[in-house]
Amino acid sequence: MTDDRDPSATAADGFPPGPGGHDPEVLRQRALDALLTARARTATLTDCVDDGELTAQHSPLMSPLVWDLAHIGNQEEQWLLRAVGGREALRPEMDGLYDAFEHPRATRPSLPLMAPAEARAYASDVRGRALDILEGTPLHEGGRPLERAGFAFGMIAQHEQQHDETMLITHQLRTGPVALTAPAPPAPTDADTLPAEVLIPGGPFTMGTSTEPWALDNERPAHRREVAAFHLDTSPVTCGAYRRFIEDGGYTDPRWWRPEGWDMVREHDLTAPLFWHREEGQWLRRRFGVTEPVPDDEPVLHVSWYEADAYARWAGRRLPTEAEWEKAARHDPATGRSLRYPWGDTDPTPQQANLGQRHLRPARTGAYPAGRAPSGAGQLIGDVWEWTSSDFLPYPGFVAFPYREYSDVFFGPGHKVLRGGSFAVDQVACRGTFRNWDLPVRRQIFSGFRTARDA
Ligand code: AVJ
Ligand code: FE
Repeated sequence: MTDDRDPSATAADGFPPGPGGHDPEVLRQRALDALLTARARTATLTDCVDDGELTAQHSPLMSPLVWDLAHIGNQEEQWLLRAVGGREALRPEMDGLYDAFEHPRATRPSLPLMAPAEARAYASDVRGRALDILEGTPLHEGGRPLERAGFAFGMIAQHEQQHDETMLITHQLRTGPVALTAPAPPAPTDADTLPAEVLIPGGPFTMGTSTEPWALDNERPAHRREVAAFHLDTSPVTCGAYRRFIEDGGYTDPRWWRPEGWDMVREHDLTAPLFWHREEGQWLRRRFGVTEPVPDDEPVLHVSWYEADAYARWAGRRLPTEAEWEKAARHDPATGRSLRYPWGDTDPTPQQANLGQRHLRPARTGAYPAGRAPSGAGQLIGDVWEWTSSDFLPYPGFVAFPYREYSDVFFGPGHKVLRGGSFAVDQVACRGTFRNWDLPVRRQIFSGFRTARDA
């Protein structure tokens, strides 16, 4: 279902519509499927390397994989077993160890963490109990906010999938023998005839959601936004286009860079996206343990916000705002309503978007014609997270739920918003309203971008 155009609508006004939305039993099944899908992926990511690799720190930017594994179990215990189920803590001494705020990532290897076998057994013990609770919890409209529409179960499935993406980033940073493989994504069909950019006419649209049952707090509530006419790249910026920026001296000319971005370039001697290097005049990249030529027609990946911003300035363009991005992705001019996804209100299929780690790379630009928005823009969902120019800020009427540390503590100018999800995001944690954020220096994430200009 689409969002109601009434900006005052909130989830509290009634049971959230959405796919199967009015039927608690449909949502129970969806929650079960989402939890099982997440756990299968967690197993893929943690069973493919030995215990030494699970406890090693592959990068100071990341936790050891075994920390993510136990943290997944611990969050599930806190929210599904204790908050929803009313159970006692299984391992009260573990909460502190797996609290992301108590211990920065770089310090996690020195903590007395559970060993791999213990972490697996803990996560699986928690899961068994969580499924019992899912079976016995009424998910109806009159229930507690955590339980209504199965929200806590959907939230925990999203949390596990978010850490699965984090673990996939760790895999990308890790050196050593190849541990993960996947087939190539589908090829483009009509790339040669695609226009470089699409026009999004000016006017208001509904941003955010009050009706999506498992939308997280920062996506709420739905509200009207005025967006002036603008042009947006039809597809994300490609490696080939980005290479022209490099070859034009992009990384040596301060005029393209924000001062803090230029500082970063000089401090770290940046010359290209992370994982790229030049050998005998050719650009190569390392991707999940394989070194290969940089493909010209694939969306560029592993760039920071500063690099995306500098490229856009060099190209005579700019990054889209978050509201522009969402209008291009969701606004349906035929009805004046906002869609759940660019293609409509139905959940993503493998023909519409490159999600869920089905592939270990973005698809070449022009792929996924079935996933395009009414505006004509493509690959908005999946492939690469897209940096926007916007700071991560609450929507008018934001209420932190169910915990401040998910979104609230990150609001402010320090974090920039990314939209649309990457090939490493599962669909349960990706939709037209979903908001991600990170520091503008970050580039180990699966980040790319597209550019815009005023109309
Ligand atoms: C929304 C991806 C920025 O990984 O830091 C995981 C998600 N929050 N556990 C992150 C999250 C708590 C979060 N991001
Ligand atoms: Fe977490």
